[in-house]
Amino acid sequence: MIVVTAMSTKGGSGKTTLMMALATGLLERGMRVHIMDFDNDSQIALWEQNSDRFAWDETAPRVSWPDALTLSVAPVAIEDVYSQLNELESKGVDVVLLDNRPGNLEENEDVVLAADIVLLPVRPEHTDYQMAERTLRWAEATVATLEEGQPAPIFRCVVTQLSTPFYNLLTAGTPEEIARATAKVANADRAMIDFLRQLPCLPTPIRDTKQLFRISATGPLTVARDTFLNGQGTARHAHVFKEDIEMCADLADDVMDAVRATNKAAGEMADA
Ligand SMILES: Nc1ncnc2c1ncn2[C@@H]1O[C@H](COP(=O)(O)OP(=O)(O)OP(=O)(O)O)[C@@H](O)[C@H]1O
Ligand SMILES: [Mg+2]
Repeated sequence: MIVVTAMSTKGGSGKTTLMMALATGLLERGMRVHIMDFDNDSQIALWEQNSDRFAWDETAPRVSWPDALTLSVAPVAIEDVYSQLNELESKGVDVVLLDNRPGNLEENEDVVLAADIVLLPVRPEHTDYQMAERTLRWAEATVATLEEGQPAPIFRCVVTQLSTPFYNLLTAGTPEEIARATAKVANADRAMIDFLRQLPCLPTPIRDTKQLFRISATGPLTVARDTFLNGQGTARHAHVFKEDIEMCADLADDVMDAVRATNKAAGEMADA
């Protein structure tokens, strides 16, 4: 079982949306997922209820919440979190997502240290993007305080809420693509994209989309797609959901690959 969390120095940076996107991707890959809500706003704990209440087309038969996705409110004591993680593992859950609260970094240290991988959502905003470096430095310092042999989480940035011009510039590969994408981004913003490029990011950047904007109301995008298409969804809507779900599944693959690569490297070091 793999444990994932997200953190950032700033509130509202996209942690919960990232957990919901990741849950969508993991479901799409056939995994069993549990999300533990550490935040007082109960966004995760109420996710299923909110999805039931969403203003779908009245004539559309509702698609039921997937059995493979369960939700809970996190216990207060970290020891209880660990015992619940053991229980979830014995029930056959593949991935647990810990939806962290906003707050300063030290407050969230226990949650971070319970995870195998910590995702740092980074938005392309001038007030936001350089925070990622500060958070990474904090992460390094925290890991350095662990005793020898104590497993440390890995930290990866995820660039999120990218507009199309920023997405195109960040993902441009050939010199022609770079030239074309650069022309569409204001001079003042190019340094920001260059900065994001050199962060230790997962390969899949996340776009700013309407589907992800609504995900906390609709439920996982697989549920949203199926319910929507039962109603008045069109081929265009189906395509839009397909693109977003693929992006979420790519994110899920990135997370699993990053953890497996680290475990493999640790195994090889132990063998040597
Ligand atoms: N990729 C995205 N596309 C569209 N909207 C997004 C995306 N990511 C986040 N948002 C929007 O940004 C806002 C803040 O996101 P979210 O609630 O996930 O942040 P958070 O870090 O969990 O906040 P908090 O610190 O309060 O827990 C929400 O309105 C959400 O819909
Ligand atoms: Mg949140």
